[in-house]
Amino acid sequence: MLIDKHHRVHDYLRISLTDSCNFRCSYCMPDENTPCLPQSHLMSEEEIITIAKVFVELGVRKIRLTGGEPMVRKGFASILGKLAKLPVEITMTSNGVLVDTYLENLKEAGMRTINISLDTLNPQTFFSLTKRNQFDKVWKNINLLIENGFRVKINVVAMQGMVEKELLDFVRITKNMPLHVRFIEFMPFDGNAWDSKQVITSKQMLDRVIEEFDIVKLKDEPHATAKKFKVIGHEGTFAFITTMTEHFCGSCNRMRLTADGKMKNCLFGNEEKDLLGELRNGKDIKKLIIESIQEKHAVMGGQFAKGYENIDAGTLKNRSMIKIGG
Ligand code: 5AD
Ligand code: SF4
Repeated sequence: MLIDKHHRVHDYLRISLTDSCNFRCSYCMPDENTPCLPQSHLMSEEEIITIAKVFVELGVRKIRLTGGEPMVRKGFASILGKLAKLPVEITMTSNGVLVDTYLENLKEAGMRTINISLDTLNPQTFFSLTKRNQFDKVWKNINLLIENGFRVKINVVAMQGMVEKELLDFVRITKNMPLHVRFIEFMPFDGNAWDSKQVITSKQMLDRVIEEFDIVKLKDEPHATAKKFKVIGHEGTFAFITTMTEHFCGSCNRMRLTADGKMKNCLFGNEEKDLLGELRNGKDIKKLIIESIQEKHAVMGGQFAKGYENIDAGTLKNRSMIKIGG
């Protein structure tokens, strides 16, 4: 088992399959022309499976596929099929646009839950945010997932100027749809022009929701990042991911593998271990994984000691979201 110095068991791995995406959200991809990694720098299909197997031997029980957009990865179906044979729960975070293409593969892999990133319910706003005219397709695919029995979570980045307008609409869609909407406080990453003043806090959002709806607090799952609520009588739920105002590092069980095979032990950590490089040199990567977990900081990659209002994004060291993998 992978246990760090802070007594946390790490059994959840997020694997980024690619750093490319079919959308162009500026908070994630700082420069629209950001070059993607050359093929040779990416983990091959075989390397992904080899590395994943080592993590499973070390106690990983859940794997999430991320990107960029995981389904644009060449060989996605085959990689998914192979990972699904491991004794893990498999899940994915996606923008949803290719769900119809790969629906059968997702079902065959036994995927039960899927997180769809969707920041707006307005087709025009969707276009200005993603630079793609794909709202209708994504919405159809969300319905397709529900029809096929998937548990669908919707990730909404709480962006200033947008979330205020759409917060209640997002809560409203949980009335007749079994959707689980999660509002994520805006987080700083390389190149996303983050400023603490742009953070709309979970508390501000909750206060606004309470003005309109009668709600109840739901029980949160162990290791949950989201604080869950429900409007009384609604089919779905809503939740807040309070990364900036109230971190949940104390129960963290997460590790990340970037598309170029670097292990990150924290979303906000700057440290990386080059698992792919070691593997290609014929070395044992197990040691490096254990070492990485031993070095894990207690809170927020050791970078956010001061409280979010005092963070100077310019001094943070990290990758952009698209190069981390979400
Ligand atoms: N702040 C908050 N959430 C973000 N995501 C991407 N960038 C940010 C950010 N700066 C979200 C994506 C995806 C999830 C993995 O993280 O929308 O749903
Ligand atoms: Fe792509 Fe998602 Fe990033 Fe947008 S947030 S650029 S959809 S990976």
